[in-house]
Amino acid sequence: MKVTVVGAGAVGASCAEYIAIKNFASEVVLVDIKEGYAEGKAMDLMQTASLNGFDTKIVGSTNDYAVTAGSDVAVITSGIPRKPGMTREELIGINAGIVKEVTSNILKHSPEAIIIVVSNPMDTMTYLAHKTSGLPKHRIIGMGGALDSARFKYRLAEALECPASDVDGMVIGGHSDTGMVPLIEKAVRNSVPVSEYLSADRMQQVVEDTKVGGATLTKLLGTSAWYAPGAAVSALVHAIANDSKKMFPCSALLEGEFGLNDLCIGVPCVLGANGIERIVEIELSDAEKAKLQESAEGVRKTNGLLEGSI
Ligand code: 2OP
Repeated sequence: MKVTVVGAGAVGASCAEYIAIKNFASEVVLVDIKEGYAEGKAMDLMQTASLNGFDTKIVGSTNDYAVTAGSDVAVITSGIPRKPGMTREELIGINAGIVKEVTSNILKHSPEAIIIVVSNPMDTMTYLAHKTSGLPKHRIIGMGGALDSARFKYRLAEALECPASDVDGMVIGGHSDTGMVPLIEKAVRNSVPVSEYLSADRMQQVVEDTKVGGATLTKLLGTSAWYAPGAAVSALVHAIANDSKKMFPCSALLEGEFGLNDLCIGVPCVLGANGIERIVEIELSDAEKAKLQESAEGVRKTNGLLEGSI
């Protein structure tokens, strides 16, 4: 499998590293506009090959998309990350133009590629990629829910004082500080609802900490996080490469699912060789349905800022 990662910044380079270490891709192409930057990151990563035991070939390209030709999957991480105190939505003015141009450049050389959008505000950037590329909906995936669910599991494990491998939980809705919907009612520790172990207040704290997981790190780091975002993207690419039919919450274009139309928002998706194999309309409680609807209104509002970009 050939994978292109556009944006050799922290998220893109982490994504390339995790893909290489998982050793399922034949080639990863890192692309960046900064002269020599992608080439340097690729070379540095390749020098870990004998240490980390992978055969994947990682190459870098300064904005030459011919090098990406024939990619099976293309990940878009390019654009500016947020600074402390910023919302993801504030990035739209700059990132919309970048995502539109990058999507077009990718498809020029890899017309069959499955596209994974990471750039923020991610749900709106995913919608933009759909509207400007005209690709079938199964070939454009927004990565947010996989990351938010990982952060949800981290907070659940912290509250339960147990390993993250003991817990399971999913976050749907918009990838935004206010729009995320951690499905706390459905979260479990070894098949037992976490409500058996945690008070209502502590469960609400887990929900709130999850929703601001990105902002918390941006405040600590002075920029957006990269390890968990990079790992989350690599998990999606791995599922596509292996045709694993694994379920992740991904931002997908909805056409009536969950009663929503003409927007991209995080919903349970089965991923495989075709990208989104299917959207799974899980049963939601009335409270969960209301939160998803409210989240969708927030995403629609941000989509409205796209104006002339579509
Ligand atoms: C995050 O939540 C970058 O949106 C990404 O860290």
